[in-house]
Amino acid sequence: MNAPPEDATEAAAELARLAAEIAAHDRAYHEQDSPTVTDAEYDALRRRNTEIEALYPHLARVDSPSRRIGPAPAGGFAKRRHRVPMLSLDNAFDAAEFEEFCQRVRRFLGLKDAVLPLVAEPKIDGLSISLTYEHGRLLHGATRGDGMEGEDVTANLRTMAAVPRTLRGQAPASIEIRGEVFMTKADFLALNAAQEAAGLRLLANPRNGAAGSLRQLDARVTAGRSLSLFAYAMGEASEKVADTHWGFLKRLEEWGFTVNDRSRRLAGAEAAEAFQTEIAAARSGLAYDIDGVVYKIDDLDWQRRLGFVGRTPRWAVAWKFAAEQATTRLEAIAIQVGRTGALTPVARLEAVNVGGVLVTRATLHNEDEIARKDVRPGDTVVLQRAGDVIPQIVSVVDAGRPDRGPAFVFPDHCPVCGSLAARPPGEVVRRCTGGLICPAQTEERLIHFVSRSAFDIEGLGERTLREFHAEGLVRGPADIFHLPEHEAEIAAREGWGDVSARNLMRAIEQRRCIGLARFIYALGIRRIGEANAKLLARHYGSYRAWREQMEAAVVIGSEARSSLGGILRIGPAIAEELAEFFAESRNLDAIDRLAALLDIQDAEPVGDGGALEGKIVVFTGSLESMTRPEARSLAEKLGARVADSVSKKTDLVVLGTDSGGKARRAAELGVPTVDEQAWLKLITEM
Ligand code: IVH
Repeated sequence: MNAPPEDATEAAAELARLAAEIAAHDRAYHEQDSPTVTDAEYDALRRRNTEIEALYPHLARVDSPSRRIGPAPAGGFAKRRHRVPMLSLDNAFDAAEFEEFCQRVRRFLGLKDAVLPLVAEPKIDGLSISLTYEHGRLLHGATRGDGMEGEDVTANLRTMAAVPRTLRGQAPASIEIRGEVFMTKADFLALNAAQEAAGLRLLANPRNGAAGSLRQLDARVTAGRSLSLFAYAMGEASEKVADTHWGFLKRLEEWGFTVNDRSRRLAGAEAAEAFQTEIAAARSGLAYDIDGVVYKIDDLDWQRRLGFVGRTPRWAVAWKFAAEQATTRLEAIAIQVGRTGALTPVARLEAVNVGGVLVTRATLHNEDEIARKDVRPGDTVVLQRAGDVIPQIVSVVDAGRPDRGPAFVFPDHCPVCGSLAARPPGEVVRRCTGGLICPAQTEERLIHFVSRSAFDIEGLGERTLREFHAEGLVRGPADIFHLPEHEAEIAAREGWGDVSARNLMRAIEQRRCIGLARFIYALGIRRIGEANAKLLARHYGSYRAWREQMEAAVVIGSEARSSLGGILRIGPAIAEELAEFFAESRNLDAIDRLAALLDIQDAEPVGDGGALEGKIVVFTGSLESMTRPEARSLAEKLGARVADSVSKKTDLVVLGTDSGGKARRAAELGVPTVDEQAWLKLITEM
């Protein structure tokens, strides 16, 4: 090793310099394919970084090259759309929450006190993948990605012994199998030892080890790593393969997959609780890290009926182990300003390892929370982290010490633009009133604007956009679509080059054509998340109609305002939020300038575009073939909106047995009605 740093200050400075330098080489190598140093020079920089970190572990940076597993290969893998989205799971953290899950299932299926048949599978925090087999042969494999679209890593998956190339025995003509790719604790330690010996970067945890090994552009690198796979779910299949999930797991084994041998078939919450205790006790002795247990309803027909809410299935839940805790020093409380002006306190902490993750920041939620916990800079605090959630401060350890600093005073002015930060009565959040003049708000809005569910512009990530904003190249959303006029200037920037600049311009051009719902969501109006943006888009249909109606809705008591507030699940509070946004002429200007540069597509019908698309349906009385929640969810899947009461706007009333007042009201208003048999016929024929 060259001379070690003189002291911690020098070490910290050198680590900062190394992080920046290595990141620049990484960009040059991976994004521009034009390395600026030799491999040996590059390795020497990394080795120096690792060595200094070994001498000063507490100085290891969050962005340290040793913690990064290499940048996402820029355009390295082809994208693959999942035919059935790969969703995530709802969590339960204790027996009461697990019981709630069971209750929800019973309520939905209309089961009274039934003991639910379950399958329990230890939950490994690895990398979920999808494998498509046609006529028993592996056709392709992909990572989960954002759930809708992943990366095609077929070549890498083929190098894994645990991934069957051909299925044994009787397999359907086509089937998609899902599972978790992971690294055992032993393989992870061995990999890191080898990395260290070679002076290469160390991996933070087995999950990163698995992800980094699988997402290698050179499949030979993946082949040299030990990766394991447990199969546990199914995507699309050409035929029915089992009646129960347990039966499906057995078939997976017949076909040649490995199923976690700790999986169990159980009945009811009590058995689940016992299993949870048993696994928690066995946890440290298992060959792999787990963070909880996944419980799935065993009956596949029930699973089908239960379906999904949003991005999670109703038929499964991940019961996570209790949060991991650690103690550290609170260095400072910083105030962040969000896209809607909310002032959020963030604790900056002396770096500490909590359950395998290096934590340097924690959320403090809001000013009341700080007061309640009486946290002050300089305090020693207990920190906790559960699953993927942001770490939280639980309590102060040394509140009684004599030299403690003064209580934290929450600012009443925006720390970024200096405008008044107001807290309306009854609200917990204090907000900057600077609106569009506040650079922090504008910047956060821009970040939101290009985020995945909004304009999703590849190559325009958070860091780049912050840079462009700071330099005045992008002041508002419309400027993004003027970037192509600055292509040469961008290509000349450090770390860019012709190829990256051209790719960015192409990505921007592709997004000039955008769906109405995405457009509305991208504007970042308070309370207009993806779901509400979709509702608005479906209701108004076209950009012009929406824009016109929103401007008209600014007037309280106008027809446009009451129509907006009357949209199911929008309501008066959200209507007011929209009206407030449109009352601001600077917002209107910004939208108009943006819209002039875009081709905003009319809202497409959702669901299957069935005959219930956009229809308002009311259920009354009890149905025999399904419960109310199930009927509601079915109708919504077919594009309908389900209302609670009958009005002139109702399109259809479904009459169960004992339907009273609503049936009469439908008759009075001349709203069409159907009985349960006709309803079933209607939905099955769609
Ligand atoms: S089933 C519709 N089963 O957990 C959801 N997931 O939080 C289907 N995971 O992305 C997932 N072990 O990466 C399922 N036995 C198991 C699992 C499991 C780990 C992961 C998976 C998924 C995440 C959801």
